[in-house]
Amino acid sequence: MSDKPQSIIGAGVARIDGPDKLSGRANYAADNLPPNLAYGYGVFSTIASGKVSQLSVDEARKMPGVIDIFHHSHFPSLYRTPSSFAQGNKVEETRLPFEDERVYYDGQFVALVVADTFENARAAARRVKVTYAADKAVANLDQGVEANGTQAGSGNHDRGDAASAFDGAATTIDATYRTPVETHNPMEMHASTAWWDNGDLTIFDASQGVVVARNALSKIFAIPPERITVHAPYIGSGFGSKLWTWPHAIATAAVSRELGRPVQLVVPRQQMFTTTGHRPETRQRLRLATDDNGKLVSLRHESINTTSYTDQYVETCGSVTKSLYRCPNLTVSHETTQVNRGTPTSMRAPGAAPGLFALESAIDEMADAVGIDPVQFRLDNYAERDESKDLPFSSNHIVEATKRAAERFGWADRKPEVGSMKEGREIVGYGMAACNWEALKMACDARVSIRADGTAFASCATQDIGTGTYTIVAQAVSDVTGIPIDRITVKLGDSSYPDGPVSGGSWATATTLPAIAGAARNALDEMKRYATGSNGVFAGASSDDLEVADGGLRNADGKQVSFADILQAGRYGSADGEAHTEGADSKYSYRSFGAHFVEVRWDPGISRLRVARVVSAIDVGRVINETTARNQVEGAVVMGIGMGLFEATEYDERNARPVNNDYAEYVVPVHADQPEIDVILLDYPDLAFNEYGARGIGEIGVTGLAAAVANAVHHATGKRIRELPITLDKLMDDVPQARSA
Ligand code: MOS
Repeated sequence: MSDKPQSIIGAGVARIDGPDKLSGRANYAADNLPPNLAYGYGVFSTIASGKVSQLSVDEARKMPGVIDIFHHSHFPSLYRTPSSFAQGNKVEETRLPFEDERVYYDGQFVALVVADTFENARAAARRVKVTYAADKAVANLDQGVEANGTQAGSGNHDRGDAASAFDGAATTIDATYRTPVETHNPMEMHASTAWWDNGDLTIFDASQGVVVARNALSKIFAIPPERITVHAPYIGSGFGSKLWTWPHAIATAAVSRELGRPVQLVVPRQQMFTTTGHRPETRQRLRLATDDNGKLVSLRHESINTTSYTDQYVETCGSVTKSLYRCPNLTVSHETTQVNRGTPTSMRAPGAAPGLFALESAIDEMADAVGIDPVQFRLDNYAERDESKDLPFSSNHIVEATKRAAERFGWADRKPEVGSMKEGREIVGYGMAACNWEALKMACDARVSIRADGTAFASCATQDIGTGTYTIVAQAVSDVTGIPIDRITVKLGDSSYPDGPVSGGSWATATTLPAIAGAARNALDEMKRYATGSNGVFAGASSDDLEVADGGLRNADGKQVSFADILQAGRYGSADGEAHTEGADSKYSYRSFGAHFVEVRWDPGISRLRVARVVSAIDVGRVINETTARNQVEGAVVMGIGMGLFEATEYDERNARPVNNDYAEYVVPVHADQPEIDVILLDYPDLAFNEYGARGIGEIGVTGLAAAVANAVHHATGKRIRELPITLDKLMDDVPQARSA
């Protein structure tokens, strides 16, 4: 079915939710204003470690419009969730809000004011008097290791004998790389609007996973999941920060029940740097060794990341290292260290994004050391099978991706000597890196209805986080049924629909589409039963003799009847189908591949560094929608430029408080920073993975990009920057470097 000519699969269909978003009809979590709504506003800790010694609400209570003020001594008691990914009830910060008087990080909720308006709640929150007994705070990774040592992480791997192979090798590299805390900064603030009706909870939450949010809230409120509905019809992006339920959503639901009225809470931008996750700080030691022919013989990737005092979050920086290159002796290890920051969480390409900065920088250093062109070095060393799992890759076109991107970029024109490519006052640097991401697929349910008015309806409790899920679901329904896109309604982001996946891990497409297609086929089977039934338009015929054509059914004689006429003739309102599909098998190693090529321009006279040009070739299996897929890679490349040059949440090393927690001082790329981005989508269907052959495309584009920038910077300047972001102070010769966080 997906192979017929002019397939809608792959077409650059415009987003079907575009008009709603552009016209303001799209309904985000804080757009819901139910009658009698009250507004919450948080009081957030101003120390990073210690406890609340005194909390006075007397003055705040007298402020206009105040309804109640909640805090540790006045908050409904809740229950714990096992926080299990497997059970689908995961939260990242497992401490219940206001559970104790301890303060574990700056920007932690210590009180919650509820008032009749947002402004009144905020004004009163500022009158809550909190006195703290502060302890010495642990402000960064180095302080954490010194104060707390490290805890063993997960995702480790060991094969061969990496230490011995290193000791006897021809050429070795031993380098340490660092990446800072990054904050997701979705445009839409985290927000929750909750109300209760006869013990049933309805919550509109800015969530990348309505089913998991429902299940977690079910545990936390100790009520059955069917009494909770979580809505997230539109998300203003998340990048991982909205995967799991954070304290503000739990607190909003809790105080709404307590007060017997709807409550809305929006997390202020400053606290989106503290209480809704972040990408943690990492320190990664890479040791590589090659033989006389420039073949890798030993590879060790040892990573430490910061985590909170309440939870262990492991940033699996070595996840790609295990399988990208052929290497018989390899060790990957992950450890964590506790610091006074909120609990970290997945941020776009968790593990791989910081991990590939280190690995792909180190690979470049090795290519330099052995005097082999960095592209050739990679081509010589790419793995042909997944040596960490001892499995073949289902589909791997990294060689073609690397070669095609190199050609499009003009890599052959690169002069290898550092600083040798000059244009006027600028020095041009060329750099490249591989990119890589695991292809994942979860279990999924979906429902499709073909209706008597000639329309179709599809639903699944997954989400469209801005990536285009609404549109590709409509494409799949249209592909199976022949019903045109403009007659298909798609509903997502409602936990009462059939269980769908979290929109994360780049798995929503690969997970959702097979279930949607299965449901659509089951609806067609139902349609055929109606058509061939005793009062059907093809009464007496066999279903096998009918084929789907142009929004209807056709028999061998060429008689064609539309779905609408079939249903109306049989007096059926709709033909419905449901389907359940399973997660990925383990017959293959399923991964996506690619390569980034970057041109930077360095003007040493005025110390200006720009990324001028990016060419990325991406192998993610079949591309379902040309437009939205390209858009994902372009967005990820921009995010990678942010990671490479700008982004870092800085903490005061004396007290562990973030110092640049707003859009003014947390620097992200703006339009003036956008290079030319040229995306090549390889489009080889991976049919071992699912019937569409799609592996998902949300995250891979950000992996490797910062390394490609760093490698280009080295080519231009001769400076090997091993600590992100590559700020100008690190490139200037006579200026003291900024102190790291
Ligand atoms: Mo993604 S970090 O799994 O939202």
